[in-house]
Amino acid sequence: MLQKTQTKSLDVEQIRKDFPILKRKVHGKPLVYLDNAATSQKPRQVIEALKNYYETYNANVHRSIHQLGEEATAAYEKAREKIAVFVNADSYQNILFTKNSTEGLNLLAYSLTSSLKKGDEIVISQLEHHSNFVPWQQMAKQRGLKLKFIKINKDVELDKESIKKNITKKTKIVSVNHISNAVGTINPIEKITKIAHENGAFMVVDGSQAAPHMPLDMKEIDSDFYVFTGHKMLGPTGVGVVYGKKELLESMQPFLYGGEMINEVKFEDTTFNKLPWKFEAGTPNISEGIGLGIAVDYLKNIGMKRIFEKDKELVSYAMKRMKDIDGITIYGPKERGSIISFNIRGVHAHDVSQILDSEGVAIRAGHHCCMPLMSVLGITATARASFYLYNTEEEVDTFINAIHKVKKVFGV
Ligand SMILES: Cc1ncc(COP(=O)(O)O)c(C=O)c1O
Repeated sequence: MLQKTQTKSLDVEQIRKDFPILKRKVHGKPLVYLDNAATSQKPRQVIEALKNYYETYNANVHRSIHQLGEEATAAYEKAREKIAVFVNADSYQNILFTKNSTEGLNLLAYSLTSSLKKGDEIVISQLEHHSNFVPWQQMAKQRGLKLKFIKINKDVELDKESIKKNITKKTKIVSVNHISNAVGTINPIEKITKIAHENGAFMVVDGSQAAPHMPLDMKEIDSDFYVFTGHKMLGPTGVGVVYGKKELLESMQPFLYGGEMINEVKFEDTTFNKLPWKFEAGTPNISEGIGLGIAVDYLKNIGMKRIFEKDKELVSYAMKRMKDIDGITIYGPKERGSIISFNIRGVHAHDVSQILDSEGVAIRAGHHCCMPLMSVLGITATARASFYLYNTEEEVDTFINAIHKVKKVFGV
């Protein structure tokens, strides 16, 4: 018989030892961190990598011809190479470092729409995070483009008919998320990519919630661009990634201008650096990039397939237990990522979150940066529990007990 914390796929007890924060208490109770879709906790290997950089080889990258500068550049570029392997990209040239997913999506929205003509169409979905919504909306407004939305069905999945109806020969760009941060839907991005390509459109995927949880293969997915953010996948804040196909990145206009992204600057004009640095103006987040490389090592050592399986086990255990509780609505499909968005009848999501916090359980409550989706669902907020590799069944039990406390306090 397996221990509750030792699921079929992972030795969670061992993993937890790497995360110092998991030892702390909140309001006198052991921390149960179920807000992983907002940001993940960091293993000591990542924390030490940041400390080590600042203590032993802090220097700027790509410019200083001295030992520290060379060590910093090598470590930073090594991290890029690891990320390229992690997502099965052709080379480091496909990997652009950004500040986060939001910056990556802004880069693509700005750069990809710069050559479009008035009336050209962009397709996103009702299920997008504001970061994959507002940049396209604002570029469409500024450049006279038409923005269309793939509708969701009753299970909060992208509606198949709506995908086909919206992506047409007029579509120039399709941008959808791989896993919804609001409800956990896993979208059929390979299929959507195929439809986008059949219609001659570029495919952008917001992989912010997928990169931390599942194996990614850029060659299989075949999207033109794939964006993710380091802090949700055990890495530091301040670093994100845009994967892009080389020939497209080469033909695109840079997003930010300044130092480092140039080849030669004359009074009349400037030529730009080679890939990937053409898109990386100014001093980058060096320690954060290096830290993300270490996070990727950590995830790879455990195995993304095993992480995906383990998350799935925990989510189905939590869903099973939640279904036994009267008055709970769970949003989204049965098969999902490691996110459970829910409401308790008669209680606002913020109150749910506050009472759970008093029990040491950290979840998120609100619109989850998905206000358009909330309006389609006819609600203003949900409570959201999101799980990761270090969460246990015991923690799910604590979460369930805390939900019972909410019901008791509110008499529902
Ligand atoms: C699906 C999705 N896209 C984009 C983002 C934005 O990520 P960041 O805030 O790191 O830019 C998030 C963060 O919650 C997300 O969940």
